[in-house]
Amino acid sequence: MGVIFGGRSAEHEVSLASGKAIMGNLDPDRYDVLPLLVTREGRWLLLPGAGEEPERGREVHFPPEPGRNSLLTANAGNAVGVDVLIPMIHGTYGEDGTLQGLLEMAEIPFVGSGCLSSAVSMDKAAAKAILRAGGLPVLPSLTISREEWGSNKAGVLEDAESNFGFPLFVKPTSLGSSVGIHRIEEAAKLEEAIEDALSYDFKMLIEEEARGREFECAVLEDPEGDRPLASPLAEIKPKEGWYDYEAKYTPGMTDIIIPAELDGGVVSQMQAHARTAFSALGCSGLARVDFFYRETRGEIYINELNTLPGFTELSGYPKMIGEAGIPYPAMLDRLIACAFARHARSRELTIRQAD
Ligand SMILES: Nc1ncnc2c1ncn2[C@@H]1O[C@H](COP(=O)(O)OP(=O)(O)O)[C@@H](O)[C@H]1O
Ligand SMILES: [Mg+2]
Repeated sequence: MGVIFGGRSAEHEVSLASGKAIMGNLDPDRYDVLPLLVTREGRWLLLPGAGEEPERGREVHFPPEPGRNSLLTANAGNAVGVDVLIPMIHGTYGEDGTLQGLLEMAEIPFVGSGCLSSAVSMDKAAAKAILRAGGLPVLPSLTISREEWGSNKAGVLEDAESNFGFPLFVKPTSLGSSVGIHRIEEAAKLEEAIEDALSYDFKMLIEEEARGREFECAVLEDPEGDRPLASPLAEIKPKEGWYDYEAKYTPGMTDIIIPAELDGGVVSQMQAHARTAFSALGCSGLARVDFFYRETRGEIYINELNTLPGFTELSGYPKMIGEAGIPYPAMLDRLIACAFARHARSRELTIRQAD
């Protein structure tokens, strides 16, 4: 089995840490682990062992021939067998369906959501539309394309102010780690924030401020097809302001409280929403569903669903699953079982007419 980590996105480092935690928690009696590092430049290197330096890696070509379950090394063209992969790359070219599409084409079983579900979940505008259509609560927002902004700035600025007032949030539709996200308190700052968000993406969202507490719920699929597990919640409490890049990655800047201190009825509602969101977006294996809770009015909103959340031992996802009574290694066993089960189901699909 192979673990893919690193990648070209801004979350390269986090992905290295996630990959390391996974490799450290896979039972060596059950799994032969192939560490696959994707460099910042996008080269694929098969390392001789976990924790080895990239210089010792052998370059591999991807994708291999469908159904061969192997990677090809670049120089000698040797095939290296791999029966299942854990693609643990966060963000662009990892979590956004592109890598998942490659793996589907190669017909190699892999952990987590497929191409479509990954792509849709990564796009905040598309995901919100689907969640809304599925009857789930999401915050009101406007989606603005570069073209629309380019041709009608005054109209966009006016719509934002009249719909939401200030403060409001501006975000690129498909990024992570809070990059390009702005909390805007006055009209004078809005234009610059929109320009910035659109420098990262072709579309952006202008969104009402949640004004509430933030929670997360870990969803873990059941390989036998029973309903997915929705974990106890985590509360995210940045010590200052909102959960921006600094609050996410500077140790000590954010308290993460597991299990969250929250009324049992609200917890159950969020868990139910988390499962519904998981199925509405067509997810597989795992997802972390993030919420806002506007306590004064008892309103719950889904903020977003992450198909490949952080997987370090200190990350929210494994901790919430641990709180549900499933230790890290057992969580990996279950995810791998789900990957095989999904692959077996996809093999039963008709992909072409009989000759
Ligand atoms: N509408 C909003 N109201 C209040 N806070 C928000 C809103 N949107 C985003 N935030 C804050 O910004 C953080 C990052 O936004 P999010 O949409 O989750 O993007 P990312 O994919 O980068 O995590 C959230 O965790 C939250 O703290
Ligand atoms: Mg988020």
